[in-house]
Amino acid sequence: MQSHFLLLAASLLVTLTIYHLIKAARWFFLGSGTPIKLRGPPNPSFLFGNLKETWFSASLLHCRVVVYTATDRIVTMDAKAIQHIMRNEHIYGKPQGDLRILKLILGEGNNEIVSRNHATYRERINPAFAANRIRELTGTFFEKSFELRDIWAAKITAASGVGRIDSVDWLSKTTLDVIGLTGFNYHFNALNDTGKVNELNKAFSAISGSSDMTSVWIPLQAQLPKAIIPLLMAVSSMKSSAEIMQRTGKELLVESKAYLAGTGEKNDNWGARDLLSLLLKSNMSTDIPEDERMSDADVIAQVPTFLIAGHETTSVSTTWALFSLSRHQEIQTKLREELLSVPTEKPSMDVLNELFYLDAFVRETLRLYTPLTNIARTALQDDILPLAHPIIDSDGVIHDSLPVRKGQPLIIAVLGVNTDRLLWGSDAYEFKPDRWLKVPDNVDTIPGVWSNLMTFWGGSRACIGWRFSIIEMKALLFTLVRNFEFELAVPVEEIILHRVASMQRPSLSSDYSRAKLPLLIKPLKT
Ligand code: HEM
Repeated sequence: MQSHFLLLAASLLVTLTIYHLIKAARWFFLGSGTPIKLRGPPNPSFLFGNLKETWFSASLLHCRVVVYTATDRIVTMDAKAIQHIMRNEHIYGKPQGDLRILKLILGEGNNEIVSRNHATYRERINPAFAANRIRELTGTFFEKSFELRDIWAAKITAASGVGRIDSVDWLSKTTLDVIGLTGFNYHFNALNDTGKVNELNKAFSAISGSSDMTSVWIPLQAQLPKAIIPLLMAVSSMKSSAEIMQRTGKELLVESKAYLAGTGEKNDNWGARDLLSLLLKSNMSTDIPEDERMSDADVIAQVPTFLIAGHETTSVSTTWALFSLSRHQEIQTKLREELLSVPTEKPSMDVLNELFYLDAFVRETLRLYTPLTNIARTALQDDILPLAHPIIDSDGVIHDSLPVRKGQPLIIAVLGVNTDRLLWGSDAYEFKPDRWLKVPDNVDTIPGVWSNLMTFWGGSRACIGWRFSIIEMKALLFTLVRNFEFELAVPVEEIILHRVASMQRPSLSSDYSRAKLPLLIKPLKT
């Protein structure tokens, strides 16, 4: 068995080396995908190129990633170029590597999302994410936040006054429970102190990158040649995890269909308000011609899609919110004052949205700590990118647009735009919720779907769940900040960034293997 594994590993290594050598040679002799010699930051690493350096650099850059992918990428923060990419998603598609992985995880479905049928998919799914639907889900957001509050309160009592918790872990459990219930009326029961994890939760963790192994696995797979992926999937836990997710998706679909058909199988007073049932309802509407309906496979694919897209993103954002409150005690006090002025522990979505400082605080968190630091696209045909700001190439020539060749990989620097000093001012890297009292005029040029930020992307593929996650974050913060005081449990210098693919999470320099944020929590002094 061991010799088989070694043989497989050795063959893979040889295949990969040959593959990357061919790619590197092609890159060396044919050059990059753009005829213009773009400038970029120095390249400090033979293996990883200067990808990391570009995350924080200004304007349009030439980013060269050597060996790992042997490709030159264009990294852009230019508002006009980004708007052009958003408006022409048929020209700028998701990278092939990402699509291959999505396909393997989501099964036969998901064609609607990644293919020309994307507009139909959005049409069917949009009603499930409308404001009136999120208003109905707000109660569930609160119920889960109360469960978390009670678990933390018990920990404080057991520790005689000050609890120590890993907020990454607990918030991840909370948002998983929330998306299970609101997404497809599924009980993960992740919020428990017994350490017990159900089958779907385990499968999802193996795929989502929250386990240590997958932090290497997922970004690596996106770079691998097409033929190798199924082989690697077979020897990893990814395959069986994907199968469990798809099987559960099928079961949930059968239940939802039964409920909608009026048999009442899926009762428990839920009233079929979960996202999957709403999607199904809109898909089965008699107004829609048969050939325009999403297939069952595409509907099933929404289960892992909601999990992957909507769970960690929201928990990571809320983790960063607690980090910011712990670092800035004056902001924590100011926020708490506003939240305590509300006479109920379970306000409506509209009341949450009227809380001005809470709103500014959430915007500032999602600006500075956007969970996804960049977005990747590949040019599917030759094109010309218009530019808001002309660029000077390495020969000193000025260009006010950028020709792009078919196959050119592009990276849109989400974090770069959210923290661009030219747009936000010299304090762009500081955490200041008050900046939302008067937002600089220039910021209007950022083409994001929400709050002039790139956090939720924009255009026809903008995040469909932005309203969902903002209200969920607000409900969680409302409950937690009204009940506890937060402090960092380790010196701030020990907290570093943990990156899996483009997701940024906090971690500790003493234990970089996974995301973690230890906090000290005390009950609120009354
Ligand atoms: C803070 C939380 C969130 C952030 C920062 C976020 C961010 C994003 C971004 C940047 C994209 C575009 C990705 C791309 O095109 O490459 C996206 C797409 C998407 N998001 Fe979110 N998201 C969040 C929460 C959610 C939630 C809660 C859900 C669902 C319950 C969700 C569902 C989706 C879906 C389905 C797409 C694909 C949309 C399409 O292709 O038409 N997201 N999200």
